[in-house]
Amino acid sequence: MKNLPVLVVHGGSGDIPVETRTVRVTGCRCAVDIGWAVLADGGSALDAVEAAVRVMEDDPAFDAGRGSFLNRAGEIELDGIIMDGRDLNFGAVAAVQRVRHPVTLARLVMAESEHAMLAGAGAEAFARERGLPPCPSWELVVEREVEHWRGETRVSSTSGTVGAAALDESGNLAVATSTGGMFNKHPGRVGDSPLVGCGAYADNRTGAVSATGEGEALMKVVISKAACDFMAGGMTAQEAADGAIALLTERTTGVGGLIVLDRQGRVGVAHNAPCIAYAYITAGGEVTAGIERQRTQTSNMRE
Ligand code: GLY
Repeated sequence: MKNLPVLVVHGGSGDIPVETRTVRVTGCRCAVDIGWAVLADGGSALDAVEAAVRVMEDDPAFDAGRGSFLNRAGEIELDGIIMDGRDLNFGAVAAVQRVRHPVTLARLVMAESEHAMLAGAGAEAFARERGLPPCPSWELVVEREVEHWRGETRVSSTSGTVGAAALDESGNLAVATSTGGMFNKHPGRVGDSPLVGCGAYADNRTGAVSATGEGEALMKVVISKAACDFMAGGMTAQEAADGAIALLTERTTGVGGLIVLDRQGRVGVAHNAPCIAYAYITAGGEVTAGIERQRTQTSNMRE
């Protein structure tokens, strides 16, 4: 029997000022539409999450691919991961430059290398070997981020990491996460996003999770794997999302958020950052998209 597919995406957590909320939600909505088209056509969860994340890597509204934050040297360094819930295979890239779609390079690492993660110049060399054309930095750097880096304008958002989690009609789960990391980070800094179990995790036995927020804190609690472990213990997607954020709050001083999809196709969204941008399409094709804002310690408000 075929499963009813589900796709959920996020477009980062953090302050997300009012004037940038529309573009974030629109970007999430576009990504979920493109990924959903893959699933609706009988495509795989892996293809769907890659397609959705590529859309957000192209969208300068997010801190991923084009439009990413600049590091202290005024350069973009990108991290990404993709994971297949069928066999726990994953591919990841860290601190790569001149790559338009880190999620696609991560998938090539998974599918066409004997390794699981490549970093820096070696990852770029692998991209060229596999036929990905070099992306000049002017294609990735946007004026807004140059102004931030020069101190001419205030950085208005703390995170615009992107991610997607999918369940396909065969019942397979997959996840992908992509980021430009923190504003003004030290060259070579790598956050949670490309680290398996931190920025993402997918296991057909439990669920699929993508995280966003302060990587140094998210790594401490291996947040995506923690959410999957909660589902293994019987929690729903929303309960697991809430539990993982409670763990982050209790054990670190960091903030972030995550999207969770369980193997029954239920969606969870949770955060202790002020906001998270998200969108999802569930079995009937109904779309939900918005910014969820934190209202109290225990109750969030979706808009
Ligand atoms: N969560 C993205 C980063 O810290 O790099």
